[in-house]
Amino acid sequence: METSEYTIKKTRTTNSKLNQVDWDNIPFGKLFSDHMLVMDYKDGKWQEPEIVPFENMSLHPATSAVHYGQSVFEGMKGFRTVAGEAVTFRPEMNAKRFQKSAHRMCMPEVPVDLFMYCLKELLKYDDEWVPKKDTNSMYIRPFMFATDGYTGIKPSDTYRFMIFTCPVGSYYTEAINLKIEQDFTRAANGGVGAAKAAGNYAASLYPAKLAQDEGYHQLIWTDAETHEYVEEAGTMNILFVIDGKLVTPKESDTILAGITKRSVIELAKDYGMTVEERKVSIKEIIESIEDGSMTEAFGAGTAATIAPIKMIGYKGKKYNLPDEEKRTFSKKVVEDLDNMKYGRTEDRFGWIEKI
Ligand code: PLP
Ligand code: COI
Repeated sequence: METSEYTIKKTRTTNSKLNQVDWDNIPFGKLFSDHMLVMDYKDGKWQEPEIVPFENMSLHPATSAVHYGQSVFEGMKGFRTVAGEAVTFRPEMNAKRFQKSAHRMCMPEVPVDLFMYCLKELLKYDDEWVPKKDTNSMYIRPFMFATDGYTGIKPSDTYRFMIFTCPVGSYYTEAINLKIEQDFTRAANGGVGAAKAAGNYAASLYPAKLAQDEGYHQLIWTDAETHEYVEEAGTMNILFVIDGKLVTPKESDTILAGITKRSVIELAKDYGMTVEERKVSIKEIIESIEDGSMTEAFGAGTAATIAPIKMIGYKGKKYNLPDEEKRTFSKKVVEDLDNMKYGRTEDRFGWIEKI
């Protein structure tokens, strides 16, 4: 079926929560907009999408996603520009990455134009939920999971694609401390690290909890084979400014190809900065912190945005990064990105998509 042949049945809630929201105090991920989009896959094709009130669902106890983990998701954001329009940031990249994740997990792909249609219709329907303050945004969660009620192992024949949205404030409110992890592994060659698969996050919880018990916010994962090269940081990619160059681990099948990181790289090139996407060893990181050639380190992700790193822990020792005044590159990037997202400057890269 062509996307143009789809229509969306919409049912408005009779119990809107909009007037209960404290817009000056929004927690991350706990507040949900009034509606959600649901589209089922059966008989080898996507059925008509529907927008319905946000509510619980009933599931078969043998729902295969629950048992065997065929479940993938995306994370993207919506913004309210100074002109009052709702916009999103590079949403087609999310749609394409969602296809890649689905393919790896043996799930049906959602065509990019159908994904975009569903996204825009839901955002239009819940337009009033897109925050008006420029320190807030709308976190958008598209996801898909296997729905066969079957206890054997095989790719499900049926799936559910959904989108819900959450008005959000900041994910991190301060510069963060990260621990370099060498005992546990997030992703190995040939595995599913490059897919935004639910199980990747489940597997990260225990090692991350151990680090959190030691006072860290998150881990820096290293390669599965040698544990000598850094990869990414759990819910964000990682970037460093060393000797005035932007250095970041090269994308691979063990690293999620982040849209925020890609945008930071494109901005750095636009500023005329040298960018190195390559293997980054722990040795290089520690030495460059110690000799002062690393001036900035930060995480980049949709939820976390640009998260400056204050301290990196390695083998029980704490390595402090330079203070805030040295963070000239990441500050410029944040300002540039925010200006585009909130419509304060021209969208010179064509990254902003109106709803
Ligand atoms: N790496 C992981 C494991 C993530 O969950 C995320 C968040 O989506 C990222 C990196 C950053 O990706 P993006 O910038 O596309 O949000
Ligand atoms: C995102 O930034 O979209 C993420 O996936 C992080 C999330 C797990 C909160």
